[in-house]
Amino acid sequence: MKLSIFVILILIASLHATELIKPIPTDSITNKQKVALGKKLFFDARLSKDDTISCNSCHDVAYNGADKTALSFGVDGQAGQLNSPTLFNALYNIAQFWDGRASDLKEQVKGPLFNHVEMATNEKELVNKLSQDKKYVNLFFQIYGDAINLNNISDAIAEFEKTLITPNSKFDLFLKGDLQQLSQQEKEGYKLFKNFGCVSCHNGVNIGSNMFQKFGIFAKYDEREENLGRYNVTKDENDKYYFKVPTLRNITKTSPYFHNGSVEKLENAIKIMGYYQLGKVLSNEEITSLALFLKTLDGELP
Ligand code: HEC
Ligand code: HEC
Repeated sequence: MKLSIFVILILIASLHATELIKPIPTDSITNKQKVALGKKLFFDARLSKDDTISCNSCHDVAYNGADKTALSFGVDGQAGQLNSPTLFNALYNIAQFWDGRASDLKEQVKGPLFNHVEMATNEKELVNKLSQDKKYVNLFFQIYGDAINLNNISDAIAEFEKTLITPNSKFDLFLKGDLQQLSQQEKEGYKLFKNFGCVSCHNGVNIGSNMFQKFGIFAKYDEREENLGRYNVTKDENDKYYFKVPTLRNITKTSPYFHNGSVEKLENAIKIMGYYQLGKVLSNEEITSLALFLKTLDGELP
């Protein structure tokens, strides 16, 4: 049943493939003062229990908006269980986290702050600590007309995150009509991406991040998998092993891949996708073309 719905999805996708991927809009409006405050907070290790970890520790915004390791390390060197997703273009995500348990960026901020293996602070401790800094007190008052609280901390950080976009990739310029941007082989890769049906899951502005899908449709991906994904949020049996389809933008920089960071090489990730998501054994040539196409999604750093 699920499978036939999926086949129909692929059919619809290939009919409309040309409109399924959208370039990153370059006219988003943010509040400059909030962005500056949010940036300060994002880099401030005082947001963690023992002043050692900032948001940037696991989401390096000067490089890829993520971590280079499979799992991330928080306070006291503790490892989490998931690979940190890139924050680049995260404002276009359907929801935040691999299982989508936060509906938007502002709601998401509480997650890492209070997670005991990430920043491990609590609301009272955090507000008290930041309120001892006169500069913060003044800034918050100027911008929000209010004392420091969890709501305006989250709001400012989310506003900064909205500026982390990577527009003008070769592929976006191609989509906007500059057909010379892609080489013959890159165009071939794009064609395969549409014809194989990758685009049925990886589409929209983020070429992903706008739906939840099962990892392991044609075969169970990993017998030892313990993370139940979307099921953790909905408690619906049908959502077991469903994860937010990740963005493929800047994919050459966000290795290792998958929710558990289990795969290092992009070519391997593509091969696995072909087999487990589409029931196809891809040839080396096809994998190379797909990888070349995916490389055209690298955009300008924020
Ligand atoms: C110890 C490492 C660590 C720290 C510190 C950290 N994060 Fe994360 N972040 C992660 C991991 C791991 C995930 C994925 C967790 C999940 O999906 O359950 C994540 C997910 C996210 C997401 C969701 C992205 C997506 O595509 O779903 C956002 C947004 C985010 N973090 C922002 C922040 C902000 C803002 C801070 C600081 C307040 C922060 N993170 C601190 C590791 C970290
Ligand atoms: C049925 C939906 C579906 C199809 C079809 C699909 N993918 Fe995916 N893709 C996913 C999901 C879900 C994940 C996340 C898996 C996980 O980590 O749990 C993913 C992850 C990836 C990743 C790793 C991204 C990261 O940051 O970890 C790459 C690369 C990728 N897909 C490329 C492709 C390519 C290329 C194709 C076509 C050959 C394809 N996908 C087809 C759903 C799909």
